[in-house]
Amino acid sequence: MSKTLQAIRGMNDVLPEQSPLWRYFEHKVAGVLDSYGYQQIRMPVVEFTELFRRSIGEVTDIVEKEMYTFDDRNGDSLTLRPEGTASCVRAVMEHGLINNGLVQKLWYTGPMFRHERPQKGRYRQFHQVGVEVFNLPGPDIDAELILMTWRLWHALGIADSVTLELNSLGTSESRAAYRAALVDYLSGHFEQLDEDSQRRLSSNPLRVLDSKDATTQAILVAAPRLEDYLDEDSRSHFAGVRARLDAAGVPYVLNNRLVRGLDYYSKTVFEWTTDKLGAQGTVCGGGRYDALVEQMGGKPTTGVGFAMGVERLLLMLETLEKVPAELQQQVDVYFCAFGEKAELAAVHWAERIRDAIPSLRLQVNAGGGSFKSQFKKADRSTAAYALILGEDELNNHSIGLKPLRNDTEQQTLALDDLTGYLDALFATATRSHA
Ligand code: HAM
Repeated sequence: MSKTLQAIRGMNDVLPEQSPLWRYFEHKVAGVLDSYGYQQIRMPVVEFTELFRRSIGEVTDIVEKEMYTFDDRNGDSLTLRPEGTASCVRAVMEHGLINNGLVQKLWYTGPMFRHERPQKGRYRQFHQVGVEVFNLPGPDIDAELILMTWRLWHALGIADSVTLELNSLGTSESRAAYRAALVDYLSGHFEQLDEDSQRRLSSNPLRVLDSKDATTQAILVAAPRLEDYLDEDSRSHFAGVRARLDAAGVPYVLNNRLVRGLDYYSKTVFEWTTDKLGAQGTVCGGGRYDALVEQMGGKPTTGVGFAMGVERLLLMLETLEKVPAELQQQVDVYFCAFGEKAELAAVHWAERIRDAIPSLRLQVNAGGGSFKSQFKKADRSTAAYALILGEDELNNHSIGLKPLRNDTEQQTLALDDLTGYLDALFATATRSHA
């Protein structure tokens, strides 16, 4: 196939065999978010480029080199969203959802786009589930967000394999004082810094703390520490977050190098990381952004949120073998019909079954076929039972029900009892697709 007729590098199809796992994940996430009373918001995937420049920050990797930006037919510069916070902030401002201190607890999910070098766990189109909360300034909500993710990790069975890293970046005033001290210190070691860090020293010095370069890291050991520059408000806020995590028994490590890659953060920042995925080990990240709304032209409004990478979490479920076995079963009942009369009757009865048991996954054999070929298809469909309708059964107003996954004998049911019988049979079965 010619290259231009293939998917774009780093942008993946989710194939039919993978989508049950996506739906399972989405179902779990929505369940947890619902249980904490969060409401879903859906934003467009394209926004004016200016929105991301203003919010994420001019001197960030995302804005400098990762955005999919193009001029539309009106000559407006548009960008495929690289993340959801900026769009969510725009939406709540635009629709007056945060006016007069109105509290909003929102979540969203969908594709994000970053022109990064693709590798395992890093894609150019990837999916996030994100949460944003407005007008709740206290540490209780920061802790709630973390507890919510913690609950999700438990629900997915991966809590033992993730670590919570926590830091406080303070207010912009305390960060400015720290930045000055850091620049002062690093300038004395300028020649030894890696090239990226040399560049960042003048544009975005806090990002030097993120450097993976061994020499730069060695220099950073003796660098001034952000926590020593925190103002009183940030300090007590951070203590409040930690006290709540301690009270709830959520383990964490303090990482005073954690600065995050987007510029809008203040006070609490956090990341959930894992060592099960290789280089792309951050499965979720977020923090507080109390100055962002004002910076985008709104009234002072506090904000806090996070986003998790869906592909990375699904990779984790696969790596840790936490994919529930029942996801492999896509069909409950496969309806085999033999002969023209039986095929017509099957259409009628399949629809009656669907009327009576909407949650039952029923597949009707298509395209006829011999006894052998229909059973082969029934078996491949993953169904637990086959319904068997032929000339003989029709004459007796009956139908055969054959278990496909164990040695139990086939039974014959009166057609009039069929829906009632299936309903009872599947009522007790826990169906994850519900
Ligand atoms: P972020 O750290 O840039 O934060 O992204 C959040 C998560 O998205 C990452 O932890 C990772 O799991 C996933 N992710 C990021 N880039 C990729 C990629 N190229 N391929 C696969 N997964 C990826 C944000 O986006 C902020 N908006 C989070 C936030 C919300 N902060 C406050 N509110």
